[in-house]
Parts: sequence; structure tokens; C-alpha cells
Amino acid sequence: MCSWRRSLLALVMVSALAAAAAAERYPGLGRAATDREVAAWDIDVRPDFRGLPAGSGSVAQGQVVWEAQCASCHGFFGESNQFFSPLVGGTTADDVRTGRVARLKDPAYPSRTTLMKLATLSTLWDYINRAMPWNQPKSLSADEVYALTAFLLHLGHVLPEHFVLSDQNMAEVQARMPNRHGMTLAPSLWPGREFGTSGRPDVRASGCMRNCAGEVTIASQLPDFARNQHGNLAQQSRLVGAQRGADTSRPETAAGTQARPAGDPAQRVDDRSGSGWALAGQYGCTACHGLAQALLGPSFADIGRKHAGKVDYLSARIRSGGVGQWGPVPMPAQPLGEADANTIAAWIAAGALR
Ligand code: HEC
Ligand code: HEC
Repeated sequence: MCSWRRSLLALVMVSALAAAAAAERYPGLGRAATDREVAAWDIDVRPDFRGLPAGSGSVAQGQVVWEAQCASCHGFFGESNQFFSPLVGGTTADDVRTGRVARLKDPAYPSRTTLMKLATLSTLWDYINRAMPWNQPKSLSADEVYALTAFLLHLGHVLPEHFVLSDQNMAEVQARMPNRHGMTLAPSLWPGREFGTSGRPDVRASGCMRNCAGEVTIASQLPDFARNQHGNLAQQSRLVGAQRGADTSRPETAAGTQARPAGDPAQRVDDRSGSGWALAGQYGCTACHGLAQALLGPSFADIGRKHAGKVDYLSARIRSGGVGQWGPVPMPAQPLGEADANTIAAWIAAGALR
């Protein structure tokens, strides 16, 4: 057995033992994570491609998935829209040869796209795999992630039209990344070399262990306008552990207790479960719709003003999705039942306030 395999095996055994020991030491509190739970978390893909699952996908397959699941937000050619910065553009065949994106040094070039900045292919694969599509992260198969990665690189003139990307040729494609030599560790983390330090990040926290404050005050603050924009955080937190979301349906008071003054529309939300607003949070509508603020889609209050009383129309639109009523960004069809769609529609049609 080669030495890294041996140490990996030892590590696995130690962590299994540690988990078992922890469960024994605190009886009744938690349990050891199962192998499948660990596997569900352990999805990172490193620059040396460790962690990359087997699979493959072609540029053409990527285009199909892209148009169905990504283009609504990022544009058909990755050029994006008024909300998001472009993923593709600004890279040239010359950059593929040199490994440095020349336009990063051109102040006249209007934007910095993802492909211009990206040095490691693993990052693109890993990010799509864990975070996209935004409204349904981790829903893509490994083959779809390969295909999407290939498609984006084709749009950026890095890969030819008939390319099939797979775990077998990721390293070859890394050698074509336009900005592969553009990564530098020189500025390091705070404090950088410019302050006469070694230039290494302070991972031992020695800087933090001097002149410590005698008493620590922990504070967190949500600006008023943002408080309830994504639904009531208290209703979205998991049911185990110490972490509890604040009740954002009510304003914060100095004492940290919740008061509910009349008058401010944002506070007049009915948060009983099963209400329109609660359902909108539950179905992830609040990723794109704020209560009173437009996000990717229009605010629920604006929709309510435009379509006051039109419950049936709104219910049908929620389930079918559509485009062109508010702008060029389409709303994907929403997978929810008629009863819940009706409840949300009735709540919007009544003004989206209560
Ligand atoms: C509902 C809108 C939406 C959809 C659909 C969507 N994205 Fe995204 N995407 C975003 C947002 C928002 C970000 C920025 C997220 C952040 O910074 O936390 C992003 C970021 C990204 C990035 C990283 C950009 C960078 O430079 O950091 C990539 C790559 C990406 N998306 C690919 C995809 C792919 C592939 C799909 C389809 C499977 C997809 N996206 C679908 C909204 C969307
Ligand atoms: C990925 C982002 C996204 C998600 C998720 C989303 N929407 Fe939308 N929604 C939009 C966009 C963009 C529009 C504007 C479409 C247009 O211009 O026709 C829109 C429009 C609407 C409209 C107005 C339709 C019209 O004809 O004026 C309603 C109602 C609506 N959404 C409700 C919902 C509900 C309820 C949910 C959750 C079940 C939801 N949306 C989830 C992006 C989204």
C-alpha cells in the first residue's frame, strides 16, 4: 500500500473512532455521522482533481441543459443580464496559448468575466456542482456538470464544438485554461508583504492573541429593509442544534424582544404556516421575489398591485412560469400543487400584505 493510502486509511479509522468515542462520552447527545451522511457533505473537487467523480458530457449535451436550466439567469451565451455579471467573454485563442488573459490588464475592457479570472478548472466544475442552478443547487448529475462545464468552455473558445469532457481529460483541459498562469499568492492575506511581514497568512491567529479586548460583545444586525425580504428566517432554520433564525416578520427592538407596531406594511405579514407568504418561503419563491423589493423577479407587492383580485390568473402563472410581463428574465415553471398555488395567488391578489 502506498504511503498516502495508508495515512488516509488511518485517518478514516481515527475519525470513525473519534465519532464513536464522542457519542459514548456524551450519551443521549447526537450520534456518529453515517458514511452516507459524510459522503453527502464530502463533495469538494480539488485543483489536482481529487474528489472528481467519474463521468462525461459533451458540449452539445451541455447546451441542452444550459438552455433549460441556466440561460434564464446567465443569458444564452453566458453574457448574463442586468442582474448578474457575465460568465463568458474577453478570452482569446492567444490567452489559451499563454495561460494569461491579456484583457485583465486592459482598463478599457468593460468587464471581468468568470472565464477571464478563473485559473483552475476544478473550481468551475465544483461550483456548478455544489451551487447551481441557483434555485435548485445540487440537483445536477455528474454527467450534466461535465457537459455544462464543456459548454461554457466552448462558448469561451477554449474547447471545440464536438468536445466531450470527462474525468479522464480534465487535466488536459486545465492546460488550456485562459488564465491558468494568472493566479498569484503574492499579496497573501492580511497583513500582506507591503506591511513588512513574511507575507504568509496569519493562520495561527498570533495577531489576534495580542491586545485582546477584555470583554467581547457579540452583535449582529439586519438592516430594516432587508429584514423580511427572504421570508421569516425563524421558519426556515433547521429543527436541531442551537442555531435559531430571528423572527424577521417583526422589527428588532433595542432589548432584542419582538414588538409589532401597526402601520409599516412590511410588518403586517401574516406568518402563520400555510399562509401565502409562508408558502412562498417554503417553495423557494423568495429567492427571486422580495415582499416589497424586486429581486430577480418583481416584488410580490408590485405583482399584487398589477394583478389585484386576479387569483386564477396568478395561480396559473405561478405553476406555468413565463416571461415578458415584467422584463426579459423568465420565471421557471414552479413545481407546486394547485391548492398551494391558489393560496399564494389569493394572498398576492389581495395585496401581498396580510
Ligand atoms: C435563478 C438564477 C440562476 C440560475 C437559473 C443559474 N444561476 Fe448560476 N448564478 C446565479 C447567481 C445569483 C450567481 C452568483 C452567486 C453568488 O455569488 O453567490 C451565479 C453564479 C454562477 C457561477 C459562478 C460565477 C462566478 O464568477 O463566481 C457559475 C459558473 C454559474 N452560476 C453557472 C450556472 C449554471 C451552469 C447554471 C445552470 C445549471 C446556473 N448557473 C443557473 C444565478 C443563477
Ligand atoms: C428563478 C427565479 C424565480 C422563482 C424561483 C420564482 N419566480 Fe416568480 N417570477 C420570476 C420572474 C423573473 C418573473 C417575471 C416574469 C415576466 O416578466 O413575465 C416572475 C413573475 C411572477 C409572477 C407574476 C406573473 C405575471 O404575469 O405578472 C408571479 C405571480 C410569480 N412570479 C410568483 C411566483 C411564486 C409564487 C413562486 C414560487 C412558487 C415564484 N414566482 C418563483 C422569477 C422567479
